[in-house]
Amino acid sequence: MAGGNSTVDKRKSKRKLVGQVGELAHGESKKFTLRCGGIGVEAFLISYEGSLHAYLNRCRHIALSLDWLDNQFFSEDKRFLICANHGATYEPKTGECIWGPCAGAWLQGVPLEIEGQKIFARCPELEEQNGV
Ligand code: FES
Repeated sequence: MAGGNSTVDKRKSKRKLVGQVGELAHGESKKFTLRCGGIGVEAFLISYEGSLHAYLNRCRHIALSLDWLDNQFFSEDKRFLICANHGATYEPKTGECIWGPCAGAWLQGVPLEIEGQKIFARCPELEEQNGV
């Protein structure tokens, strides 16, 4: 294998296989970790209305995990993502907080790449946390 383009190789090395297409049904989620800038960050993959999205598992109210019960992100009716700490309610498609103490803020999205049946995630640029 050739040494090739080091920029491309570096980018490729940062992504992580996090799942398979079809693995999650609507309203299901799966947690994973990424190593970003030398630190491990927790994130989660969701399936919502036929599309896949991923976000850091970090509420925009206080930098706590959303899932007080492991891997429970969705409301009972599977319509919203809920932070179990103080009830912040997020739109699954966009990550926008539409109700609660962080209304108007956004979950930090995790870029996904789909190749064949494989789902890869890349580190997002880590943002400052609101209120911390
Ligand atoms: S930590 Fe999520 S709503 Fe307060």
